[in-house]
Amino acid sequence: MKSADIRESYLSFFESKGAKRLPSSSLVPDDPSLLLTSAGMVQFKPVFLGLRDIGVTRAATCQKCARTTDIDIIGTTGRHHSFFEMLGNFSFGDYFKSEACAWAYEYSTSVLGMDPDRLWFSVYEDDDEAIAVWRDEVGVPAERIVRLGAKDNFWSAGPTGPCGPCSELYYDQGAEVGCGKDDCAPGCDCDRFLEYWNLVFMQFDRKDDGTLEPLPKKNIDTGMGLERVAAIMQGVHSNFETDDLRALVGLSEELSGVSLGAGEKSDVSLRILADHSRAVTFLIADGVLPSNEGRGYVLRRLLRRAIRHGRLLGVEDAFMVSLAEKVIEIWGEPYPEIVEHADLIRGIVAAEEERFGATLRQGLAYLATAIERAKTAGASVLDGTEAFTLHDTYGFPYELTSEIASEAGLEVDSDAFDRAMEAQRERGRASVKDESWSFGSAFDEIARAVGATEFVGYRDDETETRVVGIVVGGLRVERLEAGTAADVVLAATPFYAEQGGQVGDTGTIRTSDAVFSVRDTRFPVPGLAAHSGSLESGSLAVGDTVTASIDVMRRERIRRNHTATHILHWALRRILGDHVRQSGSLVAPDRLRFDFTHFEAVSAEQLRRIEEMANHKVMENHPVRNYETSLATAREMGVTALFGEKYGEIVRVLEVGNFSKELCGGTHVARSSEIGLIKIVSEGSVGANLRRIEAVTSFDALSYLERVEAELVEASSAMRVGKFDVADRANTLVRRLKELEGTGQRAKGAASSFDPLLLLDGALDVGYRAVVARVPDSTAAGLRGVWDALRDKLGDQGAVVLGSVDPESGAPLLLAAGTKAAVDAGFDATAVIRSISPHIGGGGGGRPEMAQAGGKDAVGIDAALAEARSTLGAG
Ligand code: ALA
Repeated sequence: MKSADIRESYLSFFESKGAKRLPSSSLVPDDPSLLLTSAGMVQFKPVFLGLRDIGVTRAATCQKCARTTDIDIIGTTGRHHSFFEMLGNFSFGDYFKSEACAWAYEYSTSVLGMDPDRLWFSVYEDDDEAIAVWRDEVGVPAERIVRLGAKDNFWSAGPTGPCGPCSELYYDQGAEVGCGKDDCAPGCDCDRFLEYWNLVFMQFDRKDDGTLEPLPKKNIDTGMGLERVAAIMQGVHSNFETDDLRALVGLSEELSGVSLGAGEKSDVSLRILADHSRAVTFLIADGVLPSNEGRGYVLRRLLRRAIRHGRLLGVEDAFMVSLAEKVIEIWGEPYPEIVEHADLIRGIVAAEEERFGATLRQGLAYLATAIERAKTAGASVLDGTEAFTLHDTYGFPYELTSEIASEAGLEVDSDAFDRAMEAQRERGRASVKDESWSFGSAFDEIARAVGATEFVGYRDDETETRVVGIVVGGLRVERLEAGTAADVVLAATPFYAEQGGQVGDTGTIRTSDAVFSVRDTRFPVPGLAAHSGSLESGSLAVGDTVTASIDVMRRERIRRNHTATHILHWALRRILGDHVRQSGSLVAPDRLRFDFTHFEAVSAEQLRRIEEMANHKVMENHPVRNYETSLATAREMGVTALFGEKYGEIVRVLEVGNFSKELCGGTHVARSSEIGLIKIVSEGSVGANLRRIEAVTSFDALSYLERVEAELVEASSAMRVGKFDVADRANTLVRRLKELEGTGQRAKGAASSFDPLLLLDGALDVGYRAVVARVPDSTAAGLRGVWDALRDKLGDQGAVVLGSVDPESGAPLLLAAGTKAAVDAGFDATAVIRSISPHIGGGGGGRPEMAQAGGKDAVGIDAALAEARSTLGAG
């Protein structure tokens, strides 16, 4: 049986039992406290808790799952994965243990045709009921049923919340793969008994204090690993040898020339390549992008680990894109999203592989330095923490570090490395715990008591409704007095709660005497809208009838920005290409922000065309429509589904004209021309392969343009040119300024590189000491500075005659100066200047101790100085 056949047979088997076949939800869960979708039940969490009704009580899915806990051991076993497919059947208060067990048995033996003699069953230690079901209803031999403790057979989604005892099905792979011990049985660590299906009897809600409160309805949640079942059905002992995964491993063999089975180490690398490339492809398709935190970090780590193992296998060229393409080829049919996002997947993988190539080289350089340092210090051991840094920062496997170190005659301190790794794992485990859900908050209680809030805001701006809950400082209260900040929950509301980037509404909730002003509206738990604000006057109690009204003008502006976001999204894809995907947005009253995947800066010309195209659509006055349909129909129609969003079975499609179709729950204008104008105000990078544009619309676009114009008018008057000549003038001014700065720099350079004291060597002795010299480009002040520097060095009787060209004006300068004693000995600055200044076509004067001249003819400077030299000598 091929993997695809198992997937299909499972879903149709449960359809025959009345279950609705539902699509897998995204790997990015609809739950801010959860990193990744790690089980089939994740998308049904609100249903189990009674917060959401999806219209069916029996469901079956094949869920994409990702788990990070096992990353380090992936590849060393044939059974662990970072990404896997979980087949599951669910009962929401419908069937329970009897049917769950009977159907699991029936599917295993009748559909899959497993030999009943190979099946074993574990139950939670005190679950006599489950034992009775297996033994008396299903008819399995009592000795095949084992009781196990809570570690194996009590399943919960987190420290609190829905949970229950579970029962697992095991397949006996035969004594030859086992440990051979007498007490070997399901639960043993060895490979013999392969656990392939977990049936959770979800009947409790674990409270904060640990007590198990029975859920109002009993549920079933099951999970069967598709890859493990495929291994059983195909008679292989490793998931990597099942049809689909084996085909993927095949490509790595081709690329590296190394075959599976050639060696233990290369087998690990081949398995890692297959596992990680599959996870990477699916994560990107669901909107995860490489980064240094959260799920982006998980993605990056997987990508790098795969690349590094490619190098270990001897593949030097980039290869990840071909692996991703193979994944798309193999799994594209059951998961069309990876085909849909193929361009993006290729782009991200290629960019990340290129970037990591550089990191690898840097890591090698780091290691070389560490080895050098250790050898200089005379050590024979390389510090294990260096190996850890290489592992952690540069993605170097320990083995690689140790291999290179041993070539240099060093051993790596593996204990220190292990300690650092263990510390990191601890941190990882701690963060995994954080991934679990937080139940039991005041809002959960309200949600459980009253169900989801009815949203009437697509139609009404104001509604008459009832207060069903009040929360102050995290606690439920019955009554609120004026002056208190609180969250108010209503039975129905026109307030849009922040979602899909659109900010929450503001407004008021009133009774005849109370006014509660709403600052923000959001969903603290899915489906339950909380109105945050404070009670301005009167008092408000649970049960009160109130009038809830939104700030209509503010919502108007939000609506315009939201529709504008869709139009911009469309224009971006038209101009930049289909790899553009929305990866986040903010729709506020005064602006909109749109993040999207793209690999380079958007040029000014592209931006102009995007803006132009978007505004054409605005002015063409297209109708904006919305309707509900099934997710499957929406996909067939080519509706753009957003990254990482989770959609229910029934989705809301938002169409602008017939060019933009997106799944969207937000509020929109009725016709595109209501937007008035879309003006893009910025474009920039917000991460690797991620760009952001910000824009304003309607009156905000107008005031933005008014501001721009006011600036222009001010600049034009400062520059004394017309509004449309400002750029020309500014360019001219900037060019001129640059020239001046250049000259200034040269002047400074000349002055600073010139050392006046060097002139002392050439001092003449003419009864006193005299320096006659040319100084490189200098001002008059600069020449006086040179004289100041020389005066002391020349002694009591010293004098100078200096010439230079002023660097700013290009005019020649002459300076003559002497000490009092030099003057007494016959030096006369004024006379010198008077006699030599005609050479530079100028004149000047001064006192006997100091005189200077400026002129027009810089060529004459040397002649002037020559004459000074002979005049002084003659004197
Ligand atoms: N939710 C159960 C599991 O993940 C079925 O094992």
